Amino acid sequence: MAARGGFSSKLGFIAAAAGSAIGLGNIWQFPYVAGQNGGAAFLLIYVGWIALIGLPIMVGEIAIGRRTQANPYGAYKKLGGKSWGLVGLFGILCGVMILSFYNVVSGWAFGYFLQVSFGDLLLEQDFSGFFGNYVTEFEDNFVYSFAFMVITAFIVYQGVQKGIEGAAKLLMPALFVLLISLIIYGLTLPNAMDGVRFYLFPDFSLINGTSVYSALGQAFFSLSLGMGALITYGSYIGKNDNIVSSAALVTVTDTLVSFLAGLMIFPLVFSQGQSPSEGPGLVFVALPAVFQTMGPFIGKLVGGGFFLLLCFAALTSTISLLEVPVAYLVDEKRWSRKKAVAVMALVVFAVGVPSMLGFGAVDSLTNLAYYEGTVKSAMDLVQDLFYVVGLPLGGFLMSLFIATRWTTRSMSDEISHGNSSYRGSILEKFFNIMIKYICPFVLGVMFVLTMLQKFFGVAII
Ligand code: PHE
Repeated sequence: MAARGGFSSKLGFIAAAAGSAIGLGNIWQFPYVAGQNGGAAFLLIYVGWIALIGLPIMVGEIAIGRRTQANPYGAYKKLGGKSWGLVGLFGILCGVMILSFYNVVSGWAFGYFLQVSFGDLLLEQDFSGFFGNYVTEFEDNFVYSFAFMVITAFIVYQGVQKGIEGAAKLLMPALFVLLISLIIYGLTLPNAMDGVRFYLFPDFSLINGTSVYSALGQAFFSLSLGMGALITYGSYIGKNDNIVSSAALVTVTDTLVSFLAGLMIFPLVFSQGQSPSEGPGLVFVALPAVFQTMGPFIGKLVGGGFFLLLCFAALTSTISLLEVPVAYLVDEKRWSRKKAVAVMALVVFAVGVPSMLGFGAVDSLTNLAYYEGTVKSAMDLVQDLFYVVGLPLGGFLMSLFIATRWTTRSMSDEISHGNSSYRGSILEKFFNIMIKYICPFVLGVMFVLTMLQKFFGVAII
């Protein structure tokens, strides 16, 4: 068999998996979702989900990947037969659909980076109007998101070690440096502490069923779980690497970056009296206004640095999202990596075009569906089906698969490679109980509740 490629070391895997996890979910989404859902109260629920459900699911995925040395479809098929393979295919489909809209938002970030650093974006008068217009302009979006996809494809084409691992080892440290510098800068500004207070004050009155579910969806999305990205990356790690400590490190790093992203954004927003509840526009509307007040030079530097950070974070995630279908085509269809990358990148880009056009450019895509009492765009619908519902559903099916088919005993066998003290340890008991009973139960219940609430208008919690 031709070598499938692999990471050079445990650190290589950790960098790549943390790169996959850290992305727009942490820097674009987490701060505004937390801001709208009770700040520290949301953070607590989020951390609870991560520890109880996220970490065990991550360990399970990596174990399946390393055991089978295969893409998600091949992995489920090897261990459970053709019908379980469908779970893998569903994961790959979720990955393709997530990448299709993720690339559009990455394109916005890329466009903002270029226009803040080298253009006149910071001279605008009305950033909300500018962003509203920006997302409807097809040509710009087309060009920037296409460019972003080409960069992603180029890196994935270079292969696991040179491309994915190499990019992560370069981009992740750069991301940390940018993040920490922006936090320090933000905290020195006047009124910064109001931002910290807003972000960290636990307001439990804002917690309801929806926020509990959003925190779960956010946890899956942020950790790249439920669609086989970590099965795929897990298939590239060495037999002697410790799965549990790697997964724990990735989880902690990802959560820390989400937390720090809020600590970076809210002081900046409050220092200039911008609205903290801007929602999805927070980084594209409130922040440019902040950068503007810093004067042309500092504004371009800090603002450009911020959008560059956003691009780096997004890139290591788009890489992992593209690698999943590519690994499938290379493993199962025997395609060359080059052909798989080129075809998949084009397909995913094309699938994303409706999402791109659903911000006003095309009416029917802007008002594509109606549920939860509001009109939904193409991107809303794709997000709801393949991320909000799809990822926790993927996690449910994976835990069900381990519980009923592969067995937690086989999972323990796999984890014991590279971790001689795992067997019989309290950790083993914890992961087994979680995967066998708690994850299938909790995720199954959450799936039903969300479907009822989202698409049938029945709110139970
Ligand atoms: N974890 C990434 C983020 O937080 C998104 C992602 C989801 C990447 C699923 C891969 C798989 O932005």
